[in-house]
Amino acid sequence: MRKLKPKSYDYIEKLAPLETELMQEARKNSEKLGLETISISATEAGLIKYHLQSVQAKKVVEIGTLTGLSALHVLSVLPDGGKLWTLEKSEEHAKLAELVLKDEIQNNRCEILIGDAREKLKELNSQAPFDAVFIDGNKAAYLDYFNWAYENVREGGMILVDNIFLAGAVWGGKTSQNFNAKQIRTVQDMNEKAFSDKKLISVIVPTEEGLLVCKKQSS
Ligand SMILES: C[S@@+](CC[C@H](N)C(=O)[O-])C[C@H]1O[C@@H](n2cnc3c(N)ncnc32)[C@H](O)[C@@H]1O
Repeated sequence: MRKLKPKSYDYIEKLAPLETELMQEARKNSEKLGLETISISATEAGLIKYHLQSVQAKKVVEIGTLTGLSALHVLSVLPDGGKLWTLEKSEEHAKLAELVLKDEIQNNRCEILIGDAREKLKELNSQAPFDAVFIDGNKAAYLDYFNWAYENVREGGMILVDNIFLAGAVWGGKTSQNFNAKQIRTVQDMNEKAFSDKKLISVIVPTEEGLLVCKKQSS
């Protein structure tokens, strides 16, 4: 959860293209829910799009839709024939996301799956392999999401995970946010797997929240 956007983000966002009207609407909707600080920043969205394009991502899964802001960013770099499956537990959030994603849904470029992501991911097994998975849902389930992504991303594909610093809790920092021991251990285990698994090339981009980027190598 972001407190204040760093000044560097303001500078980067002046250089980068403006967010579209739909993206701004999605941002306003998360503000109305009091959740603007958990929406992705335009700077982080730029990093995610850069990595998706670097693997020519066409089929992408997102875990944690909120109001559809990051989904719109992802869709903006998918080519013709591309598709995003985005998973969200809250019906209220999913309804708001539908408002900004309706054209993409109608054009069969986007599907929102409502329910607990661990369950909903099982429904996507038959559509695998995917080119990329972006994880931004329930922190206590990050390792399960990551293991699913590891199995269901193609070789040469990418796994991206946001908030992997847990505001400093992963290195024992004191935070004003209440992460419980299970959430902290889960994210630490996932980060350790990302760097110890020989099939993955992993980096952590030291954004304010920490963005884990893993590329799955060919055998
Ligand atoms: C950090 S927000 C996602 C922000 C969004 N990716 C964006 O940047 O626009 C996390 C979202 O995950 C959802 N979520 C939490 N637990 C979940 C679960 N078990 N399954 C699916 N979604 C979940 C929350 O309701 C919330 O909307």
